[in-house]
Amino acid sequence: MAKIGLFYATDTGNTRKVAKMIKKQFGEGDIELFNVKGATAENLTSCETLIFGTPTLGDGELPDTLTEFLPTLESVDLSGKTIALYGLGDQVGYPDEFVDALGILYKKLKKMGATLIGSWSGEGYEFNKSKAFRDGEFVGLVLDLDNQADLTEERLGSWLEQVKPVLLGAAVA
Ligand SMILES: Cc1cc2nc3c(=O)[nH]c(=O)nc-3n(C[C@H](O)[C@H](O)[C@H](O)COP(=O)(O)O)c2cc1C
Repeated sequence: MAKIGLFYATDTGNTRKVAKMIKKQFGEGDIELFNVKGATAENLTSCETLIFGTPTLGDGELPDTLTEFLPTLESVDLSGKTIALYGLGDQVGYPDEFVDALGILYKKLKKMGATLIGSWSGEGYEFNKSKAFRDGEFVGLVLDLDNQADLTEERLGSWLEQVKPVLLGAAVA
């Protein structure tokens, strides 16, 4: 059983690609990846801390596979569970709904009592509106592989520096 469970949704594969990049930064056996399509409540409860990754699809919506996973997610007690979030979006194509799914997911998890970590500065992004932007920052790591793919590795690296010790530390505690 891995300490950290990374649950991702994906349509065209970008969010899975990022999940694999994250996995590489952890030690053998520390982290396990789960596509939400097919993931179970048991998968969620077997991991001590969690990462969720999601793209935004439609007009500022959750991917269908994540919407279908919500009843499973809501069946689990997440109070006090440490969770970090990352979201993928397209700030040029969707400046008014930029990474909205990240904000929608954050709100749900917060309501369930989870301890959300890994907020991220809005510096370097250009958008009009985002449900993921609260109190002057993003509620999780934001990546734009459509327009700023060259920044992905650097952004991911500094975000992981921030969340990795907390996720592993919380998992050990
Ligand atoms: C049909 C469609 C709708 C999208 N809607 C949004 C959106 O509302 N907001 C946003 O920030 N990005 C939007 N995107 C961009 C995706 O979130 C982005 O391309 C992401 O990297 C896809 O990740 P995936 O390959 O894991 O599915 C949309 C992309 C597509 C194809």
